Amino acid sequence: MLILGIETSCDDTAVAVLQIISGKLKVKSSVISSQVKLHAKYGGVFPSLAAREHEKNLPKVLKLSLKEAETKIEDIDLIAVTRGPGLEPSLWRGINFANDLAKKFKKPILGVNHLEGHIYSNWLSLTELDYKLFPALCLIVSGGHTELVLMKSHGKYKIIGETLDDAVGEAFDKVARMLGLGYPGGPLVALRADKFRSKSVKVEIKFPRPMIHSKDFNFSFSGLKTAVLYKTREFTKLSPKITDQICYEFQEAAIDVLISKTIKAAGKYKVKSVMLSGGVSANKLLREKLSESVKSLESSPATVIPEMAYTTDNAAMIALAGYFNWEEIKIGFPSWKPTKPNASLNF
Ligand code: KG4
Ligand code: ZN
Repeated sequence: MLILGIETSCDDTAVAVLQIISGKLKVKSSVISSQVKLHAKYGGVFPSLAAREHEKNLPKVLKLSLKEAETKIEDIDLIAVTRGPGLEPSLWRGINFANDLAKKFKKPILGVNHLEGHIYSNWLSLTELDYKLFPALCLIVSGGHTELVLMKSHGKYKIIGETLDDAVGEAFDKVARMLGLGYPGGPLVALRADKFRSKSVKVEIKFPRPMIHSKDFNFSFSGLKTAVLYKTREFTKLSPKITDQICYEFQEAAIDVLISKTIKAAGKYKVKSVMLSGGVSANKLLREKLSESVKSLESSPATVIPEMAYTTDNAAMIALAGYFNWEEIKIGFPSWKPTKPNASLNF
């Protein structure tokens, strides 16, 4: 089976071709056209500009993706397109494009939940579709979401914890802005934190670990962000050394909370695997600490972490989520049926 994935929920225009034959999966192509440089001057994603760029880029990205996959659109069996959550103007561009393709080439089309796609980015690292990973606990950490999702089987999700205010990626981005580091902030904050760690200087700045001892699995990052703001106000000028230390301690605090809650939940629900996904899953320290901490669990669940290429928004994860929706959950349609966006879709 060949699945064409289309993703335009935010500022990345992505198209992928995924092949699944007898439970073996192969990403034949995954092309991403990033608009990061374009939005950097606004310090965040500018929705109408993002939508315009998607419209311009989609035909080119599709062409490239099919060429890399050595496939023709006529050979595609299913089109999977992100229907939400995301920026509505951006979602519309991808959906209209996918609907037109489906109509023109008489292909079935399926609207996919972007968060479900992020969860399935974990399966892209496996060569076989592994069914022994359930129940799985997935920590989704992105610019818009921070959620702990319990997945009992394909299509069966339960949110057991979420952020009560800012998403963790959003907090990274806001801290980077306060420190004048640029956008997107996550990788820049992580880089400065690594610089501080490599020098083994004594840590003099301390930030809180919000809600780390709360009995639930929810998160809160706005207090941590405010603590960073107050700290920056203590200095008339932020030297590179202070900036590095603030980044280090902020990252440690955010990751401590994420890991602590994830491990507690993994123990409580006796999961077979712990998965990580979303843009913040590109964070090296988070990846390392999660793997280490999961090993300490008595039930020894597997840790599944997406390859770096699939941490940020991509269409291969959307194609795979589309496949599971189609094959396993049987939300199939008889031929083609246009889909619509839902900007605030959740599980
Ligand atoms: O999943 P994603 O690509 O888009 C959304 O759906 O939000 O996530 C983007 C987020 C941004 O907030 C970005 O700063 C963050 O992921 N991010 C990181 C790292 N790389 C990207 N945060 C921390 N450390 C990183 N290395
Ligand atoms: Zn995303």
